[in-house]
Amino acid sequence: MNAFISRLLSILIFACLGSVLLWHYFTHRDPALSHPNGVNQKPARSNGVAASGPLSVQQKPAKRNQVIDRLIASYSTSWKKHEKNFQFYRSLLGNKCNAISAAVVTQRNSPTGTNITFDADKKKILEVTPALYNLFPKETPFIKAPLDTCAVVGNGGILTNSSCGKQIDSASYVIRCNLPPLKNRHEKDAGSKSNIVTANPSILMQKYSSLNERRRSFVEDVRLYGNALILLPAFSYRQNTAVSLRALYALEDFGYNGPQAVFFNPAYLSNLKEFWHTQGIRAMRLSTGIMMVSLALELCNNVHLYGFWPFSVHPYTYQQITNHYYDNQPVNHRVHAMPAEFEALLNLHNKGVIHLHIGECTN
Ligand SMILES: *[C@@H]1O[C@H](CO)[C@@H](O)[C@H](O)[C@H]1NC(C)=O
Ligand SMILES: *[C@@H]1O[C@H](CO)[C@@H](O)[C@H](O)[C@H]1NC(C)=O
Repeated sequence: MNAFISRLLSILIFACLGSVLLWHYFTHRDPALSHPNGVNQKPARSNGVAASGPLSVQQKPAKRNQVIDRLIASYSTSWKKHEKNFQFYRSLLGNKCNAISAAVVTQRNSPTGTNITFDADKKKILEVTPALYNLFPKETPFIKAPLDTCAVVGNGGILTNSSCGKQIDSASYVIRCNLPPLKNRHEKDAGSKSNIVTANPSILMQKYSSLNERRRSFVEDVRLYGNALILLPAFSYRQNTAVSLRALYALEDFGYNGPQAVFFNPAYLSNLKEFWHTQGIRAMRLSTGIMMVSLALELCNNVHLYGFWPFSVHPYTYQQITNHYYDNQPVNHRVHAMPAEFEALLNLHNKGVIHLHIGECTN
């Protein structure tokens, strides 16, 4: 009997301890770590409800955070390009991924009769029919590579009040993510020039009724990006294809000299994922931001990054910042490894490979 009671007691004690520990874990996680920002490549299957989350910025005063302090302490402020390291990473990426000929689906790399294997949905294969083939550009759009200076603009809240717009627009080639708002109050911080803009099908679904209804507002909004390439992950998830094709039809049917829709090559994205896996990033899916940095590393001789900072606290002012410079939509952490990506980019910055701008732009 005594033995039974003591066993019962020890079970109770362990159960109590366990729940205290669990409670502690869930209530004491650092808010700065649980609200990373950054550019967001949600799979099309996540619906609008899941993506809308808590919209208010946490009002608690931001506290100093060990992770942020460690990262900022290692961030080299006197950046200088290290040509050897730059060439090393460019050739590593070039050998594995070859963005110039393979990042975008073209008639040359995807002839009629070949199969396209979806990168986020390996069981899905699509044969290139003559009709599909005719939607692809003949050649790579990156025929002019290497370009001189590229700015890759992440959408992080760190851009708010950064005054980086002029510096971003001074780059010869500007790459943006997920159809970000640019005009009016954003121009000073984010600039307006755009040569590539990615478009996540989830935004087409939410904002433009999947382009199943009127398409004029989509076409007019996209005019904001001038003659930029609109880059769509049409062959990542199977739900992405039809809506991406409709985006291309809409831009072509309205028949003006504006943005051109092209599709990410899923073979390129698969190789990119493997590349970053060897660099320690084990996410279900890479963020659009790191995809664009990788592209820029192959296309451009000088790569500058703005708007990349995946935490909800500003590293210098300790003010709370929003997830994006234009809204506070949360990032999907089941899918992306934002802090790990950021550390990889910080490492490349410290090696003189890319120039990661954090905080205000002074010139
Ligand atoms: C394309 O995929 C289909 C179906 O899986 C297969 O039968 C065909 O042989 C493949 N074609 C090529 C060129 O690989
Ligand atoms: C940006 O600047 C405005 C105006 O000075 C200020 O009210 C706001 O708090 C600032 N926001 C951030 C995140 O720094």
